[in-house]
Amino acid sequence: MILKLFTIFLLSFLSLVSLGNCKGNSDESGEAGTEATIDPMKQKGIGPIKSFTPGELNEASASKGKEIFEMKCSACHKMEEKVVGPALNGLTTRRTPEWILNMILNPTEMLEKDPIAQDLLATYLTQMTFQNISEDEAKQILEYFRKYDSSKK
Ligand code: HEC
Repeated sequence: MILKLFTIFLLSFLSLVSLGNCKGNSDESGEAGTEATIDPMKQKGIGPIKSFTPGELNEASASKGKEIFEMKCSACHKMEEKVVGPALNGLTTRRTPEWILNMILNPTEMLEKDPIAQDLLATYLTQMTFQNISEDEAKQILEYFRKYDSSKK
């Protein structure tokens, strides 16, 4: 009888311990999971661009984009070094076209609500501001970034 009671006690003790372990593990993986679920290549950001799939690289747009970039962005951005804002090389490999366009067209709301933009703000501590860029111009700048990234391969 005593042995039986002891076994029950031992079994329930063991199951409590393993339950506890399970819970601990799932909590940890849950935390890691929330970070891992933000896959930047699935984020479209917040703004006027809901869906955009660039076609073949358009050289003429890319060179217009480069001019606009040098005029309106280069005070804060270089391609290869961080200045006020991040270095933008490899941008098209780490962000979706929609996210990039929304960041250019709608930076204030992006910095308020988009998790990736908020992370950047926490690092760079300066708010990117809207540079009076039209949607067409933003797409030309995107074309410049695509050209830049494709020429590095
Ligand atoms: C006043 C300085 C400033 C200007 C001007 C500026 N940016 Fe930014 N940009 C930033 C900062 C700082 C960040 C990082 C997020 C933050 O802290 O606002 C950023 C972030 C970005 C990002 C996200 C980078 C990444 O790694 O995901 C892109 C894309 C971008 N800027 C493009 C542009 C373009 C294109 C222009 C010109 C139309 C421009 N920026 C003009 C300061 C600026």
